[in-house]
Amino acid sequence: MNQHTRQGPLTTTEKRLPKTSGGMSNRLVDPTANVLLGTASPLAVSPSNRRFRAAMVGLGKQGREDHLPALAASPSVDLVAVCDADDKAVALVESEYHVPGYTNVVDLLDGEDLDFVVVAVPHHAGRDVVLAAAAHGVHVLKEKPLATSLDEAQEITEACQAAGIELMVTLQRRFNPVYTTFPQLYDQIGEPFLFEASYTMAVDPSSGWRGSNRLAGGGCIIDMGYHIIDTLLWYFGMPDHVLAHTAAVARPELDYDAEDTAVLHLSYDSGLFGTVLLSRCIAPKTEVIRAIGTRGSVVLERGRIRRLDNDGTAVEALARENAWPSAAAAQLDHFRRVLMDQRPNVSGAEAHLAHAAVVTAAYASAASGQMVDPKELIA
Ligand SMILES: NC(=O)c1ccc[n+]([C@@H]2O[C@H](COP(=O)([O-])OP(=O)(O)OC[C@H]3O[C@@H](n4cnc5c(N)ncnc54)[C@H](O)[C@@H]3O)[C@@H](O)[C@H]2O)c1
Repeated sequence: MNQHTRQGPLTTTEKRLPKTSGGMSNRLVDPTANVLLGTASPLAVSPSNRRFRAAMVGLGKQGREDHLPALAASPSVDLVAVCDADDKAVALVESEYHVPGYTNVVDLLDGEDLDFVVVAVPHHAGRDVVLAAAAHGVHVLKEKPLATSLDEAQEITEACQAAGIELMVTLQRRFNPVYTTFPQLYDQIGEPFLFEASYTMAVDPSSGWRGSNRLAGGGCIIDMGYHIIDTLLWYFGMPDHVLAHTAAVARPELDYDAEDTAVLHLSYDSGLFGTVLLSRCIAPKTEVIRAIGTRGSVVLERGRIRRLDNDGTAVEALARENAWPSAAAAQLDHFRRVLMDQRPNVSGAEAHLAHAAVVTAAYASAASGQMVDPKELIA
């Protein structure tokens, strides 16, 4: 484990102390918590000059387009190294950001004194990268999903707990005011009884590792659908039943086995139920979440949210100008605050056991044709 000697309000060594002993607890972190709620201190916290040393692992699309610009622009995090299995990707980024590059994550962790790594690798490569970071006592900001399976999610959760490191799964909707407003409007529509979510786009379903169930852990459900599953867990909590249908037939001329399209039916013992349509093969790109209650509805679309009365008249609305900016900088800053104990980590590994259970329940239901209770998978 690297030794850290820099000054700061909380040393990395202190932060690395294991938070639990005797293995993983069965307690689920409440995934409905807002990112900024639940903090023990007021939002205004004392300024800190603590600087963090980070490395970027995975220099593909998400690493290059979102995380590297956020790291480079951060006033409190220094990008000290980069890593990718592909030496050409390393060479490109090394010369642009003027930091040392590695082609192996263990060499990176052995060679650099790091507080955390930002990880944006293909789903099948995530486990080994996270376990290596945990073994070196280095915190992890991990692109979604946490893991390719529930077993892997449990293994990662235990490894993080044993090492005493923080892992935060990045989900940009948690940092978008349009999405954080939903619970306030939802409280004003009477008794909610129905929701309807859809997230569709048209991309090549056979592209790279994403087209392979073995490499990606599934298709549109675990990949783009993970964002919607997180949002529904945040707003409504853990469903009591999941029924799913999946298909990988939309582009018969292409070679892939990961589902391109899925419909999930989620239901709650409270009486609330709803559907989720996910597809990589339906244009144009759209994202909508609607909740309907006895006194109206909330409609969330990309960039805006409205509350409607029962006649469909908009009662109030919020639009985000310059819709869909990158949230990478906000996530990075939030993670820095988590490491300084200024904010809760509501997107930690243990919280994401719920996501892994819903994803697993959906695939089990699609295979069996039966409804599955995701809570039983992690009881
Ligand atoms: N939050 C979002 O909206 C969003 C969007 C796109 C992708 N993602 C996520 O980001 C992650 C990466 O996706 P992407 O689109 O950038 O993929 P990508 O294929 O474009 O890039 C992945 C990179 O990781 C490298 N790599 C593979 N194995 C490695 C290893 N063991 N160590 C180091 N590098 C390794 C590859 O060479 C490649 O350069 C995935 O988890 C994906 O789900 C999230």
